Order: sequence, then structure tokens, then C-alpha cells
Amino acid sequence: MALLDAPLVSALRGDRPATAPIWFMRQAGRSLPEYRDLRVGTKMLDACLDPEMAAEITLQPVRRHGVDAGVFFSDIVVPLKLAGVEVEIAPGRGPVFADPVRTADDVARVTSIPAAEIAAKADPIREAVRLTTQELNPQGIPLVGFAGAPFTLAAYLVEGGPSKEHMRARAMMHADPDAWHRLAGWLAEISATFLAAQIEAGASAVQLFDSWAGSLAPSDYRAFVAPHSKAVLDTVHAVPRIHFGVGTGPFLDDMRLDGSADGVGVDWRMPLDEAARIVGPDTTLQGNIDPAMLQAPWPVLEQHVREVVEAGRAARAHIVNLGHGVPPETDPTVLTRIVELVHSL
Ligand code: CP3
Repeated sequence: MALLDAPLVSALRGDRPATAPIWFMRQAGRSLPEYRDLRVGTKMLDACLDPEMAAEITLQPVRRHGVDAGVFFSDIVVPLKLAGVEVEIAPGRGPVFADPVRTADDVARVTSIPAAEIAAKADPIREAVRLTTQELNPQGIPLVGFAGAPFTLAAYLVEGGPSKEHMRARAMMHADPDAWHRLAGWLAEISATFLAAQIEAGASAVQLFDSWAGSLAPSDYRAFVAPHSKAVLDTVHAVPRIHFGVGTGPFLDDMRLDGSADGVGVDWRMPLDEAARIVGPDTTLQGNIDPAMLQAPWPVLEQHVREVVEAGRAARAHIVNLGHGVPPETDPTVLTRIVELVHSL
């Protein structure tokens, strides 16, 4: 059962809890020594499919930092792996695909895999979420489930691995729009199926990560990407939805997906009061501590966090987070200190 009254969930409904809820993207991961110890000898995607390990890694940062939410330890490419697509996560690099999807034939081949295949193989995901929420829900702490948005998944799948400007995925939109829409439509089904498994098993909110959307021209975002991301979030009815991207300032209003997102994530480039004017009174904002500030002396970081919380008062409600994920080299005691500060304001 989803937790309806937790501060994070009520902020997404538009209420203002007494103190702003806070969690960190990538809070589960390499900044924690207990994570690095547990992961020794286990590949990233094997860890994601081991329910006990995934649950334990999800819980580590909640215990340590006292954040207002857990974020499910998994990866945006896990549903593709469940679908039988050959993918690995190369340490220090990111997702790498054995067979990049570049031509119309490649698209036809990969999209012939039914999304139902994932639902049938998602028991390790459901079990990991169940183990996690069994521990979190009695403490009133919600679990945020997540999936990759179609464009960010395509940025890896079409290229075959990480890339700077995601040229091949952006090129496909214009070179073969039919193939692009077919691929993005299929990726939307894949991510929706991954979210459904997490919600069934107890996630109280979901976040759609379109991390690389900022590489798109606003007109391309609207024509080729937004309809597919909206399709993912429109399958979610039971829990509130957050939509996140980096560098999306030029089309932040589009990130609301016409109201299909209850909350929109903002990176560190745009102050939250300006973001609030853009998204208007019907959208909660999430963000936007600059990850670079985590290296600054505490008085500098403290001032920055206070400014973020202050600017967030312009939004209908505010969930404090970073503008992107926790960098691996972060001193975790700094994250705990930020949580204490935000809870004291
Ligand atoms: O704590 C959390 O936020 C939950 C877990 C989570 C991971 N990946 C764990 C992970 C989440 C939400 C993701 C999503 C994800 N995966 C995104 C969107 C979020 C973002 O940061 O923009 C993207 C783009 C990916 C693809 C991916 N997976 C990348 C770029 C990497 C990093 C590669 C590296 O080694 O630097 C991964 C691997 C990954 N996903 C790790 C973790 C903890 C590191 C694995 C390790 O320990 O080696």
C-alpha cells in the first residue's frame, strides 16, 4: 500500500508539509562505504536482480541520512535486460549495448519483443520492492520507484553506449521519424511496465528520469519526445509522479507534460523561484542543490541550501533534492548534515 500522508507524497499533491521533504538522487551508491563493501564481486545488473541486495542498498542511505524517501536501487536499463536485450553496465562509464539499434530493421527487431515479457520476468523487482517497503512503510517513509524516459533510454540504445550529444538518437528523429516513434513508443511501454511492477509491490511515488533531454531543441522535445514520456506517466494512476531532466530550462513548462507530472525536477542552472513562475501553481518543484557545492566548505554549502529552500517557497510545494545525482566522490557526512539543516528550517 502506498503511503498517502508522508511529507513527500503530500508535497506532490500540492500540500506544504511543516518542513520540506528531502531525498537525493543517487543516494544509494558509490558515495557510501557500506554500498562499496556490499557490491564487491557482484556486477551492477546482477545486484539489481538480487532482491535482498537491492533492498539492502536501497535502505542504506535512509538509515544513514534520515532522508524522507528511499529511491529504489535499480537502473533505467534493467527492464531492457529483463526483455532479453543484451546490456551491461561498464563501471565508470554506464550502460553498453552489444547490438546498437540504429536502422529501421534494428528498430523492428527490438520492438517485436512484447512488453508483457518484462512483466512476466519482473519478480525480482517486485520482491526487492516488497522487502524494502516492508521495512520503510511502518516508519512512514515512502519508496520512490523510477524508470528511464524513452529519450534517455534511446540515447544509450541507439548509440550503443554513453555519448555526449546523443547524436544518433537525435538524428533518427529527423532521418526516419517513423522508426523513431516506433522505438520511443516501445520504450514507453517498457518503462511503464517497469513502473507498474514497482507500484504493485508498494512504491509510493515514481520518478521518470529524462536525464539527457537537455540535449534537445525545445521544438524537437515537443514533437518527438514529450508525447512518449507523457504516455508513460499517463499509465500511472495510483501514486504521484515526478518528471526529471538536466538542462531542461528552455522547455521547463513542457516538462509538466500537460499536468501528467505532479512534480518537475529542476537542475542547478535555474533558481527555483524562476522555475515556479514558469510551471505555475499546479506543479510541485524538486531540486536543486548544485552537486558541485557538496565540495564547498560547510558555511558556503549551508548558505546555498538555505537559498534553495527560500527560493522553493515560490512553488506550490517543494521537495529538496540535488540538481542531479550524488557524485561518487561525495563525503556522505555532508549529505547527512544537509538533511539535518533542511529539517531544521
Ligand atoms: O540512488 C538512486 O538514485 C537509485 C538508483 C539509480 C541508479 N541508476 C543506480 C546506479 C537510479 C535512479 C539510476 C538511474 C539512471 N541510470 C539514470 C538516470 C539518473 C541520472 O543519474 O541521470 C541514468 C542516466 C542511468 C544510466 C547509468 N547507470 C549511468 C550513467 C551509470 C553510471 C556509470 C558509472 O559507473 O559512473 C549507471 C550505473 C549505476 N546506476 C550505478 C548506480 C549506483 C553505479 C554502479 C557502480 O557501483 O559501479
